[in-house]
Amino acid sequence: MEYNLEEIDTYAKRWIKEAGENIRASFPKILNVTSKSNPNDLVTDIDKGTEQYFTEKIKGTFPGHRIMGEEGYGDEVKSLTGVVWIIDPIDGTMNFVHQQRNFAISIGIYVDGEGMIGLIYDVVHDELYHCVKGQGAYLNEKSIPKLTKAKVSEAVIALNATWVAPNEQIDHELLIPIVKDVRGTRSYGSAAMEMVYVATGRIDAYLTPRLAPWDIAAGIIIIKELGGETTDLRGDDLDMLNQNSLFVSKPGLHGDILKHYLKGGNW
Ligand code: IPD
Ligand code: CA
Ligand code: CA
Repeated sequence: MEYNLEEIDTYAKRWIKEAGENIRASFPKILNVTSKSNPNDLVTDIDKGTEQYFTEKIKGTFPGHRIMGEEGYGDEVKSLTGVVWIIDPIDGTMNFVHQQRNFAISIGIYVDGEGMIGLIYDVVHDELYHCVKGQGAYLNEKSIPKLTKAKVSEAVIALNATWVAPNEQIDHELLIPIVKDVRGTRSYGSAAMEMVYVATGRIDAYLTPRLAPWDIAAGIIIIKELGGETTDLRGDDLDMLNQNSLFVSKPGLHGDILKHYLKGGNW
């Protein structure tokens, strides 16, 4: 398939900014909030409207591209051949509903399965984290420096408290040692934001047992571009067609945490 990355990147940036502007304009309005898989899995008309907005723009301009979107307005994507846009219209919907901040739009663009463009837009702060593979990563116009190594004892990691309390997905005892040994833990409630915090070195790692492709598609492109490591909790490659556990980190620290804390876990 013929494609022009620069052209795709230009449109993607324009649309993500426009979608962000629409979201900011929605703040004074009353949200229509419903729940999906469980009472805490929220969705709003703004999540849906934002995904529809991207779908219309992409299909109108690039009819051959396919879309995997959380809210289901895209295509049923079963392979990653050609150009595939993986979209989370609002990552951190609970924060969007409760706080009107700490959420982001996340778009990863894959060509024949390879992550080529990553865009994460912190709508409230008008901060766009972006990269085209091989061309460096940026926060708005500013180049983001490459990631450097870190030690476990000095690391601040993002981890949701859910995973160190009894839960149905993992043995909660498994992550207690890492929580005890690092300098501090944080939880921001948006996987995309947690990933740009790793990309910018504000935190040293982020780990979680289950995420969908749209939560991570953009973030892993940006982190890789900066020399960070992106795997699942076993240290294996991520699969953009299925759910994954996720472990993203500064280089060096990734190997140390895998070896000393994650090996043998039932992830
Ligand atoms: C959620 C956020 C959250 C993560 C959840 C995701 P959503 O995405 O990224 O931080 O813990 O697993 O589902 O539903 O707000 O797009
Ligand atoms: Ca999400
Ligand atoms: Ca979402």
